[in-house]
Order: sequence, then C-alpha cells, then structure tokens
Amino acid sequence: MRILNRSHIPWFLFVLLASAAAGWIYVGNFSPARLPAGAALPSVLIQKVSDHRSIGGTPVGLAFGIISFAIFIFGVLLSLRKRLLLWPIGSVQSWMRAHIWLTLLTIPLVLLHSGFRWGGPMTVLLVVLYAVVMLSGIYGLILQHQLPAIMKERLPAENVYEQIPYVRSRLVLAAEQLRDDFLSPIPSVVAPVVAHAVVGEKPIILLADAASEADLAEFLERQVLPYLRARRGGSFRLSDQDYSDDLFRSMNLSVNEGYRDQVAAIQAWCEERRMLDLQIRFHHWLHGWLFVHVPLSFLLLLLTAWHAVVTVLYY
Ligand code: HEM
Ligand code: HEM
Repeated sequence: MRILNRSHIPWFLFVLLASAAAGWIYVGNFSPARLPAGAALPSVLIQKVSDHRSIGGTPVGLAFGIISFAIFIFGVLLSLRKRLLLWPIGSVQSWMRAHIWLTLLTIPLVLLHSGFRWGGPMTVLLVVLYAVVMLSGIYGLILQHQLPAIMKERLPAENVYEQIPYVRSRLVLAAEQLRDDFLSPIPSVVAPVVAHAVVGEKPIILLADAASEADLAEFLERQVLPYLRARRGGSFRLSDQDYSDDLFRSMNLSVNEGYRDQVAAIQAWCEERRMLDLQIRFHHWLHGWLFVHVPLSFLLLLLTAWHAVVTVLYY
C-alpha cells in the first residue's frame, strides 16, 4: 500500500486543525492566561467551573475522552468493513485512510483528556494498552509500505502463498525421483553405457558412471531431501546461501562431468526452497503484527468502556 499519495492531504490537514482546535480549547479552559492576547476562547467554549479534581472528569475533558472512544469504535469497525465486502459504505481504501488518520487524532485527544497524567493503575493499564495498539498500527503501516519493495528485490518469483506447500512437495518429488533414478542399477551390457535421465522436462543423454550416481543418490538422501522435506528449512545448513554454493561447487568437481546438469538442477531446487522459506518469512512479518494489533484493539475498546463506566459512576 502506498502511504504517500495526495488523498492523504485532506486528512492530514483535518487532523492538524482538529488537534490545534482541541489544544486551544484545552488551554483556553485550563490555563487561559497562557493564550496570547486576541486568541481568547469564545465564551460558549468555556465550561462552567467544575469541581472535578481531574481534567478527564470536566465537561471539556470528558468530551475529548468520548470522541476518542468513538474513534476507537470506528477503528474496530474496519474489521467489519473488510469482512463485509458488499457493505456499501465507502471503499476499503477510504476506510483505511480514515482509520489511520482518525486514530492518530486520538493521540492529542487522549493526552488532553488525561491532562497529561497517568491516573491510577486502571488508567495506567488503559494508556499502556492504547500505546501498544497505536505503536503496532504504526509499525504495521510502515511494514506494509516498505516490505513489498524489499520482497520484489529479494524474491525473483513470488508464489501464491497458499500454493507454497504444493510447490514444496513438488520439489521433494522431483528430488526423490532423481534419487531413485540414480539408485536403479545401470545396465552393464554396453560400455560405455548411455543412460537417460530426466531433469525437469529436459531429457539429458549422459555417460553413466556408477560411482557418481551413488554419490549423488547419497547426497540427495542425506542432505538435500531432509532439507526439502523439512517443515522449517531455516535450521538446515543448506538454507545458508554461501554454504550451499560451496557445497554444490565441490559436488560439481567430485562427480563425473556428465552429471553437471543434474547437480545444477538439485542446486536450483534448494535455491527454490530457500526462496519459498523467505517468502513465508515475509508473509509472517507482513501479517504477524495484526495478531497484536487486532485482538488488543478489541480489548482496548472493552477497557475504555469499563474505564468510562467506572470513572463516571464513582468519581
Ligand atoms: C485505537 C486505535 C486503533 C484501533 C482500535 C485499531 C483497530 C484495528 C482493527 C480492528 C484492525 C483490523 C482490520 C481487519 O480486520 O483486518 C486494524 C487494522 C489496521 N490498522 Fe488499526 N487500529 C488502531 C490504530 C491504528 C493506527 C494508529 C494505525 C497506523 C497509523 C493503524 C493501522 C492499521 C493498519 C495498517 C491495519 C491493517 C489493515 C490491513 O489488513 O491491511 N491502526 N486496526
Ligand atoms: C467515553 C470515554 C471516556 C470517559 C467517559 C472517560 C472518563 C474519565 C473520567 C471521568 C476521568 C476522571 C477520573 C478522576 O477524576 O479520577 C478520566 C480520567 C482518565 N482517563 Fe478517561 N474517559 C474516557 C476515555 C478515555 C480514553 C480513551 C483514555 C485513554 C486511552 C482515557 C484515559 C484516562 C486517563 C489516563 C485518566 C486519568 C487522568 C487523571 O487521573 O488525572 N480515558 N476519564
């Protein structure tokens, strides 16, 4: 997703103006002497003297709290909007823009509502939870903006994520097939024997060499197949590009020249497996933060409601 495009400008200006207005109302009510001459608040915006001990409980403070709460509700509604694609109100993109900017507007609103104080354990918990939701949202937004370019650079070909298990099993099958070919005895009637191996789609005619075939079969069995079959490839030495390059280089030197194409094919399978693992890792980064952001945002909603009820009823 692109964050920097023109459709954000009205939102940016709105958030800037709304924050300035909120700041003005706050200072005009709680320390009017600090406003420059001529910037005094009109009297309609000045609350009646409140006997409430903290700013959050005064009408102005309450208004900031209630608007923040309403924005939280709106923020969580994004979930619904994304699931109900037929719901006709606004495109998902315009919801996303509103989501980002309105929730950012809650930063000044929450600060002014709390009067820059933490309050008791309940409100400390509330503010910490709020901070985690906001930071995870900002982090996720940055990831969504940066990661696609990095992925493009590092992943030569991207698979559909859901297809990855299938692609992986195809690699395993190809490697098993080649191993079986190498294990089947070479007919010894004619010498030198011409054997026929199939790598991918391409038939290759080569001079059969029993020792090379045995080496390659063992190499496939001991090193390559465990890696290709693994659920997580990251802990295997073949997942390391440099190690893999060295290994295949020496493999190339140790087998008969006629087997270079097969060695190259095996190397390409390992390469592909490495790329699939990288793609999975990117996918987890791109989506993992939502497992923090989304459940905690629902919790934030509940805790704010609880805070509102408790403070309004008991203070
Ligand atoms: C109180 C504040 C917030 C609440 C309650 C909230 C809530 C949510 C929820 C419920 C979703 C899930 C949507 C879905 O089902 O996929 C979501 C997604 C998201 N939020 Fe927030 N959020 C908040 C603040 C933020 C902030 C400050 C940012 C960034 C500046 C942000 C950026 C995002 C992004 C990028 C997504 C992902 C949309 C996608 O799936 O691509 N959120 N948020
Ligand atoms: C419907 C929304 C809200 C209502 C009705 C509400 C109500 C109140 C009230 C009445 C107080 C004063 C408590 C006292 O006098 O000790 C207060 C304080 C506070 N509120 Fe809220 N609040 C709301 C939303 C929020 C939100 C969204 C946050 C932050 C995420 C928040 C954070 C705080 C904090 C940190 C304090 C403590 C400030 C202090 O002790 O001086 N409130 N709130």
